[in-house]
Amino acid sequence: MKSIKNICCIGAGYVGGPTMAIIAKKNPHIKVTIVDINAERIAAWNDKDLSKLPIYEPGLAEIVSEIRDKNLFFSTDINKAISESEMIFISVNTPTKTYGKGKGMAADLKYIELCARNIAEVAKSNKIVVEKSTLPVRTAEAIKSILHNTGNGVQFDILSNPEFLAEGTAIEDLLNPDRVLIGGESEDAIACLANIYGSWVSQDRILRTNLWSSELSKLTANAFLAQRISSINAISELCEHTGANVKEVSKAIGFDSRIGSKFLNASVGFGGSCFQKDILNLVYIARSYNLHQVADYWEQVIIMNDHQKRRFSDRLIKTLYNTVSGKKIAFLGWAFKKDTNDTRESAAIYVADHLLSEQAYISVYDPKVSDVKIQSDLNYLNTRSEAENLEYVNPVTSPYEALKEAHAVTIMTEWDEFKTYNWEEIYANMKKPAFIFDGRNILDKSEMEKIGFEYYAIGQ
Ligand code: NAD
Ligand code: UDX
Repeated sequence: MKSIKNICCIGAGYVGGPTMAIIAKKNPHIKVTIVDINAERIAAWNDKDLSKLPIYEPGLAEIVSEIRDKNLFFSTDINKAISESEMIFISVNTPTKTYGKGKGMAADLKYIELCARNIAEVAKSNKIVVEKSTLPVRTAEAIKSILHNTGNGVQFDILSNPEFLAEGTAIEDLLNPDRVLIGGESEDAIACLANIYGSWVSQDRILRTNLWSSELSKLTANAFLAQRISSINAISELCEHTGANVKEVSKAIGFDSRIGSKFLNASVGFGGSCFQKDILNLVYIARSYNLHQVADYWEQVIIMNDHQKRRFSDRLIKTLYNTVSGKKIAFLGWAFKKDTNDTRESAAIYVADHLLSEQAYISVYDPKVSDVKIQSDLNYLNTRSEAENLEYVNPVTSPYEALKEAHAVTIMTEWDEFKTYNWEEIYANMKKPAFIFDGRNILDKSEMEKIGFEYYAIGQ
C-alpha cells in the first residue's frame, strides 16, 4: 500500500474545511492543503482573527488555530497542490442546475468537471482522486473518462467517499462518524484512504463498496432523512386539526426501536444546501431511467416541505386578521438550523418572501448571519427590487430591537439563546395582541400563554 504524505482538497467550503482539518489533526505526518478558486475565502481561512473564518462550526476555530501552517494549509495555488499530492479530494459545490437540460432538478457538475480537467492537466505522477462532493450515481465514470483521456499517461484511481457530516455538529460528526463509506475498484487505493481514517475511526466502521453503491448511498441517506421530516410534518398538520400534539406523537412513535427517536422534530420545513438538492437529483436520475413511480414517490418529500413552509406563513397571515400589510413581523433566526451561519434553502427566506409580498415589514435577528447575507438571500429570489427588500427588511443586531413594537414574532431557527430571553419584557414591548409563531416548537406553550401571548406552534 502506497504511503500518503501529501493530500490536497479542492474546495474550501463547509465540507472541505472541517473534513480536512480533522484528517490533518489526526494524521500529523500528512501535509494537507486545501485549495479554492475563491481567494477571499482562502484569505478568510488564513486570517489571524479566528472569528473571521468563513465557516462557523462549534470547535472548528480551535482546531484550525492548533494546526494551521503546521500540517494544514489554505492556498489558491491549485496546480502546485495537485502536483505535490498523492491523494486529491474533490469537495466542490454540486448545486441544482439553473439552466439548460435538467434545470431545477439535476446536479450541476461543471465544477466537478473543471476539477477533473485541472487534475488531468497538471498531474505528472499517479494520483488517487476522491469524490467527496455529493454526486449523481455513475459520476465516477465521467471523471474517469476525463482523467484517462486528457491525462499525461499517469495512473488515476477514483474513489467515492461521500461525507455525512451535518452542519452545526460537523466536528463532532467527523470525530465520531456512524460510518465512513469508501467505494472504489482498486483495493489498494481503498486501503490507502481507509488507513487515513483508521487514525481515529475503527476499521469495522469503514464500509467498503463498489463505486456506484457508494455514490447512490449518499443520495439515499439524505432522501431518507428528509423523508422523515416531511412525514412528521405531514402528521403535524393533521394534529392541528384533531387536537393531537405532534411532540407527543413523535415521542410515542420514536420509542419504537424500529422507528427510532431521531429526526422526528416537526418544523417550519427543512432547509440546508443538501436535502432539496439531493432529492431533486434523485428524482431526475429516476426519471432519466423512466422510473416515474420512483421519481414521484421521492418528489413528494419536496412537495410536502414546500407545503409546510407555505402553510406556516398562510396561518400567520390568517391569524393576524387576514392582513400583514404595514405590520412589523420579527424573525428570530435566519440560518437553516442552529449553530451554523449557513442560510442556504433556509425556510426563513421563503416565509419572509411570502410575507413581503403581502407588504409586511420584517425585522430579523440571527446570532450568526450578517445583514448583507439576509438581503442577498432575498435578492436572489428576484421577487421584488433590491430597493424594496432594503426598505421592507431590517436585519438588526439585538433581538429586543427586532421584537420592539412587533405585531408578531416568528421563530425560524432553534438557536438555544431564544429560550432564555426575557419573554415578559418582550411581551410588554410588543403590540397587542402579541402573537408568537414558533416554527421550531422550542418555547413552552403554557408559559407563553401565561405571559399573555397568543402562541401558535407546529402541530400543537
Ligand atoms: P461550498 O459551496 O461551501 O464549498 C465549495 C467550494 O468549492 C467553494 O468555496 C468554491 O469556491 C469551491 N470551488 C468550486 N469550483 C472550484 C474549482 N474548480 N476549483 C477550486 N475550487 C472550487 O460547498 P459545501 O457545502 O462544502 O459542499 C461541497 C459538496 O459536499 C457538495 O457536493 C455537497 O452536496 C456535499 N456535502 C455538503 C454537506 C454540507 O453539510 N454542506 C454535507 C455533505 C456533503
Ligand atoms: C444533512 C444531513 O443530516 C447530513 O448527513 C448530510 O451530510 C448533509 O445534509 P444538514 O443539512 O447540515 O445535514 O443538517 P440536518 O441536521 O440534517 O438538518 C437539515 C434540515 O432539517 C434543517 O433545516 C433542520 O432544522 C431540519 N430538521 C432536522 C427538522 O426540521 N427536523 C428534524 O427532526 C431534523
